[in-house]
Amino acid sequence: MEGCRVRPWTRLPAPLLVALACAAAAAVGECRVVHVGEAHRRSMLANGLGATPPMGWNSWNHFGCDGNGEVVIRETADALVSTGLAAVGYKYVNLDDCWAEPERDAKGNLAANKKTLPHGIKALADYVHSKGLKLGIYSDAGYKTCAKAQPGSLGHEEQDAKTFASWGIDYLKYDNCNNGDTKPLQRYPDMSKALMQAGRPIFFNLCEWGDMHPARWGAAYGNSWRTTNDIEDTWNSMMSRADQNEVWAEYARPGGWNDPDMLEVGNGGMTNDEYIVHFSIWAISKAPLIIGCDVRHMSQDTYDILANKEVIAVNQDPLGIQGKKVRMEGSSEIWAGPLTGYRTAVLLLNRHDKDEAQITAHWDDIGLPAGTAVEARDLWMHKTLDTKFTDKMSFNVTPHAARMFMLTPLKSQMD
Ligand code: GLA
Repeated sequence: MEGCRVRPWTRLPAPLLVALACAAAAAVGECRVVHVGEAHRRSMLANGLGATPPMGWNSWNHFGCDGNGEVVIRETADALVSTGLAAVGYKYVNLDDCWAEPERDAKGNLAANKKTLPHGIKALADYVHSKGLKLGIYSDAGYKTCAKAQPGSLGHEEQDAKTFASWGIDYLKYDNCNNGDTKPLQRYPDMSKALMQAGRPIFFNLCEWGDMHPARWGAAYGNSWRTTNDIEDTWNSMMSRADQNEVWAEYARPGGWNDPDMLEVGNGGMTNDEYIVHFSIWAISKAPLIIGCDVRHMSQDTYDILANKEVIAVNQDPLGIQGKKVRMEGSSEIWAGPLTGYRTAVLLLNRHDKDEAQITAHWDDIGLPAGTAVEARDLWMHKTLDTKFTDKMSFNVTPHAARMFMLTPLKSQMD
């Protein structure tokens, strides 16, 4: 760390210190950093995608097998644009399982379902692209997909990658079912290589469910990797995905992200406060923000969560460091993570189902040096608080709810 002053972050893990030091010093060119963390963060798929976590929509959580028809997809693309969700960053429109005919065509190619996608995928991609959006598709690193409705790509990697590229596909979610017990570390690299040679940059999501700890190897082959089994639209399911994903925080970096599965916000199984918790944790965890509800018919409350620009800015912060749980006391938790410009995102989370809790974030836990005075922006109230905080901040949080803040050291502290 020669030549670098990293005052506010001296208690943070090493890879994070490197990134912070460089971000802070890059402008003046005074930082020469040689560190093991650097090699780790540089090992990434060279397709240039995923510098920040991907944002978009996927059909599965709301529609299951029935969401890939061209009417739904076109209307969803229209709705992303007309509601303003596209403008705040949601760009990928992703088909999930069941988009294909049950068998390959005479040339061995995957073919779009003739009933639901009568004009084919290329026409759909053209439409989605004409709206300034990107089209994603789904396949499986096995012989059949999980719903068993269509063939998988195992053994057909090159052919399928070329087909996807020729259709204008921008994102591939690659599932893990019916694989004949072949190792993921063979199957996922094969498709990665095929995509890299297909002639079109395609964001590669390894949907390996965390089975063989893809956080450890995923960045060399993909831009994101699932760390969990499928999410359900309940508080317990959502929180357990958040917990399982959190332990891999050190592995996330620009170009490769931990994926605790797609959002359930707006699907009706949780309260509004619970959905705010869901979105806040996904944002601070630098998780892909892939909407899973029917955006053609969402409520104002759902929109207000999904379109919260201040929370999205935490997720998309170019520093790209995944926030972590920094303290737990019973059902009270503090999650925190650094952002560019010496700022810090903090989440005060009450997991108790009945009792309100007073939750205190101590600077010692969130990585700010003693004595640092900060301004706090409440990211859900959209308000900068009048009070300035030094060493700690304390708030009452209602059950199954969270408060989320962005802390900025006062200017005098930065000199
Ligand atoms: C798996 C994946 C899900 C979804 C279904 C489709 O369960 O993890 O996200 O794609 O398959 O069958």
